[in-house]
Amino acid sequence: MSANNMEEVLMELTGKNIVYVGGFGGIGLETCKQLLQKGVANLMILGKAWNESAYKELNSVDPQRVCQFIEFDVTCGLERTRTVFAQIAEKFGNIDMLINGASISDEKDYNLIIATNFTGTINATLVAYDLMDKSRGGKGGVVVNISSVAALTPFHVLPIYSATKGGILNFTRALAHLEPKTGITLYTICPGITDTKHWDNVHCFQGKYLGLKERSRHAFPSQSTLDCATNIIKAIQAHKNGSTWMCDLGQLKMVEIKNFWFPNKENKNGEQCCKPECG
Ligand SMILES: NC(=O)c1ccc[n+]([C@@H]2O[C@H](COP(=O)([O-])OP(=O)(O)OC[C@H]3O[C@@H](n4cnc5c(N)ncnc54)[C@H](O)[C@@H]3O)[C@@H](O)[C@H]2O)c1
Repeated sequence: MSANNMEEVLMELTGKNIVYVGGFGGIGLETCKQLLQKGVANLMILGKAWNESAYKELNSVDPQRVCQFIEFDVTCGLERTRTVFAQIAEKFGNIDMLINGASISDEKDYNLIIATNFTGTINATLVAYDLMDKSRGGKGGVVVNISSVAALTPFHVLPIYSATKGGILNFTRALAHLEPKTGITLYTICPGITDTKHWDNVHCFQGKYLGLKERSRHAFPSQSTLDCATNIIKAIQAHKNGSTWMCDLGQLKMVEIKNFWFPNKENKNGEQCCKPECG
């Protein structure tokens, strides 16, 4: 599917309560601006560090819509994540959409990159999931996980980063199967190399095998944050449960991920253990 034939399926963003983890980052800030332009009701940014200029920039988009901020380190663990999300749900009434965009690319401390990119995304998703889950009294909702093209094609420059992003992709696709029960739609967004600070001061865990030029993002063609954010918004509005989107070099493409393993549809007692569409 290309970005041009999505007109019929656009999801309305007006009036939505959105939480954006990492919303003050390069791609996050541009995407948040566009969310505010689309008329979202409430936008809560969760991030490690306060950013006065980003906050002012966002709040100048539309004086009617004020975005809010809570200091939140995604490596803080489940308990603190639950507390913060409960606080937001109480403030907004409910959370319609969670966007997980917090990430680092420095592999020097590989426990930290896994805790930030992978465990942090899982924790925020599961906590929001509990609040949104229709089968447990919630209203349903949307979770958008920002992965990377490094999840689609393993990137030899950043193998640990690639692993965290590949993990997010599989995690998101797996949870998407529960949508008929939970009313929660999930998609994965895979940006290509984008002009942000994400690659600044990156230490590759396996850097000893790489030349200096190869380690620099300037060795690869890149896209602007504006192009990336515009396509993220299009992918969100396409609202396709379980979908994976590549936003690379200003283009948006829905990516078909091939499955190679098909679980038995019946267990040894002859009971159905997996819906046919789970294949
Ligand atoms: N820039 C690229 O080339 C590129 C390519 C592919 C994917 N992506 C993905 O896009 C997303 C946004 O990246 P970006 O380029 O805007 O990077 P960025 O560095 O500008 O933004 C990342 C954000 O994550 C936040 N963050 C980092 N650690 C955190 C923590 N422990 N707790 C809370 N927040 C934390 C940062 O403060 C920042 O706001 C990331 O998921 C990234 O992996 C970026």
